[in-house]
Amino acid sequence: MIIFNTKQEIKSYLNTQNQANKTIGFVPTMGALHEGHLSLIKKAKKKNDLVVVSIFVNPTQFDNKEDLVKYPKTFENDTKLLESVSCDVLFFPSVEEIYEDNISSEKFDFDGLEHQMEGKFRDGHFDGVGTIVKTLFEIVAPHRAYFGQKDFQQLQIIKKMVKKHRLNVKIKGCPIFREKDGLAMSSRNTRLSKDRRAAAPFIYKTLKKARKKFGIENAIKVTEWVENQFKKHPFLELEYFTIADEKTLKTVKKKESNKKYRAFIAVFAGEIRLIDNIRLKND
Ligand code: PAF
Repeated sequence: MIIFNTKQEIKSYLNTQNQANKTIGFVPTMGALHEGHLSLIKKAKKKNDLVVVSIFVNPTQFDNKEDLVKYPKTFENDTKLLESVSCDVLFFPSVEEIYEDNISSEKFDFDGLEHQMEGKFRDGHFDGVGTIVKTLFEIVAPHRAYFGQKDFQQLQIIKKMVKKHRLNVKIKGCPIFREKDGLAMSSRNTRLSKDRRAAAPFIYKTLKKARKKFGIENAIKVTEWVENQFKKHPFLELEYFTIADEKTLKTVKKKESNKKYRAFIAVFAGEIRLIDNIRLKND
């Protein structure tokens, strides 16, 4: 695996690969890699001649300073994991390399997707995500880029950005990877206390029950039921639960037969914020 730290070096290397007609698959990450990331890389390996991974903890997408400072950094282990799945290129730039002396976000219009769910609780988050993903796409110029569905809103927003800005890259959404007990894999899971880690699978269990209920009850009733489940919980605090249209991400008021719906959840386990979602049946 070749490691690059500067834009210029990686650009010139990938340019040569491009000229040799090699297809490039790209997996942007913030490091602290886990099986979920590796599954994206394995997918990218199957479809592309060359796989590029970036590790960059992007300051502009953090609305919470402490979360940024405490974000896990495990570079040595990350490189071992990347080698284990035969990643070809790692881009590991500094904050200065990416933002120079102006650490700020571009303002985006994602046709309202940015105002739903996470957008209501994480001010400026999606402008930060849009800024870094667009910048990385300009540097890497990938043919395909891979994102996990755990951040489903992020995935839809990136697809929207690619469409609106006519970027020449195919966005591939990949299934959520879970621990054996159902907890969605996340770099933040390593920061959970023992009690809260033991409690966290309750999130996915509740989502599965909500999915069952959605077959027989309306979205408002299911939402109330989920909110009640968390009211009693000693270790987990619900921030939001909503059932939304997959395309618009707007909360469902009335089910329509030709639409696809998902349930979305954000929960605080102490100071660690966990998100998850599940596809719902709509027959
Ligand atoms: O999902 C993430 O890890 C980040 O939001 C991303 C896409 C790498 C941008 O910083």
